[in-house]
Amino acid sequence: MSSKNTVLPVGFDASDAHLTLDGHDLVALGREHGTPLFVFSERQLRHNASSFLAGARAGHDRARVFYASKACSNRRVLEIFHEEGLDIEVNSGGELYKAQRAGYAPRQIVFNGVAKSAVEIDLAIALDIQAINVDAVYELHRIGERARAAGGKARVSLRLVPGIAGGATPGIQTGSATSKFGMTQDEFAEALAWLKTAGDAVDVVGIHLHIGSQVDDTEAYLRSVSFAAEQAERVQQELGAALSHVNLGGGYPIDYSHQPTGSNELGQYAAARKAEAMVRDVAGAARKLIGTGVELLFEPGRAMVGDTAVLLTTIESCRQRGGHPWIYLDAGYNLMIDAAAVRWYYHMVNASRADASYTDMGKMADFRVVGPLCDSADCFFDVEGEYLFKKIMSRLPDLTPAQQEELRGDIIRLPATRRLPAATIPGDIVALLDVGAYTLEEMFQYCGRQRAAAVLLTAEGEVAPMLARDENADLVSQER
Ligand SMILES: Cc1ncc(COP(=O)(O)O)c(C=O)c1O
Repeated sequence: MSSKNTVLPVGFDASDAHLTLDGHDLVALGREHGTPLFVFSERQLRHNASSFLAGARAGHDRARVFYASKACSNRRVLEIFHEEGLDIEVNSGGELYKAQRAGYAPRQIVFNGVAKSAVEIDLAIALDIQAINVDAVYELHRIGERARAAGGKARVSLRLVPGIAGGATPGIQTGSATSKFGMTQDEFAEALAWLKTAGDAVDVVGIHLHIGSQVDDTEAYLRSVSFAAEQAERVQQELGAALSHVNLGGGYPIDYSHQPTGSNELGQYAAARKAEAMVRDVAGAARKLIGTGVELLFEPGRAMVGDTAVLLTTIESCRQRGGHPWIYLDAGYNLMIDAAAVRWYYHMVNASRADASYTDMGKMADFRVVGPLCDSADCFFDVEGEYLFKKIMSRLPDLTPAQQEELRGDIIRLPATRRLPAATIPGDIVALLDVGAYTLEEMFQYCGRQRAAAVLLTAEGEVAPMLARDENADLVSQER
């Protein structure tokens, strides 16, 4: 049987044995620079930034895109996005420092966070950034006090709870009152009352919301626009102040699943629509409901960087167990914490035998894939979910097969095995796709593992360093 089993993204080619990205042989790159190795594409970074900005502006000509730098705050990424005309969202004094170092002006910066320190608040006030997004009434009081003490005024935007639970998994839903973020309607009323009587050192310049991450649901965004329109109206009426912006947050999805169109597999990791098309509709709805008297802000992170990088990892060992071949990679959850923390799906291609992966299904086999860490949870299947499902099944013997299947889908987030060429052996290099978001800054050195290096495939066809691999000295450099 000869057919394509998954969809390869733009920029990749599997017509020869070795997988290539932007014309570079990924196996050769892995050998030259060592693995594990993150490989970023400048072409894709620029494409994502310019198409999202164009989509937002097509819907609302005063739209601005504040890249959520927590997704990846490597200097080269920040500089490329700056050149493409993006602004920036930061979540700490550290990210503020990185944003400034990459050339962003204060009015290009919004500052989020649920527990900002006094030092961070003072810095944001002193710089007079676009807005401090205020997360709680307590924080509003604190910002007011610090601005008054400094003899200045703080530009703030009020983060509200829209009551909309977007996001692929509970851990990344941020728009409901059961999450830890933002102000509910009662808290909002309290904030407005305080602003009217004691808020002289605070300028309310905007409102803000963010419903979650990997939100593959344009309807949820449209509901958040209606919510934002009502709340913006309320602030303007109660405070008599004209807002300068409405911030609709980020959360736009990418397709991690790489399944052929029409497949329902891995639905929560898929994206039915492109982020730039979704944001055009959302911005257009905001133009109608809120108007163009205010700027419209977006804060995408994942959709800007997620599909701009692959992680190259070498198979170091193998065995046969439980009826399946198992392979052991040199990359574990210390390089991509979401693989363990929220059982995130990263698609795999055997970069050393790419033509087999993409053209000849008859020679494929199903592998259990695990990482190198001394921890059973360091695997690319859902070990906790598989255990829980078995346990629940033993207590519910009367479920029909259909009910069992439904429950399995609810509990187990990841496929038990990965389909790779049957000839896959130690020494092969596997590429994990879409690892650009929420990886580089979340790496850690558990089990004495060096954090991985990263390189950038430049628009000029060169391979430029982005991040050096740890050395053994880095494993002990902070110890005293
Ligand atoms: C306030 C805020 N804005 C933007 C983002 C970026 O989300 P995403 O990467 O899903 O676009 C986040 C992510 O946690 C966030 O908390």
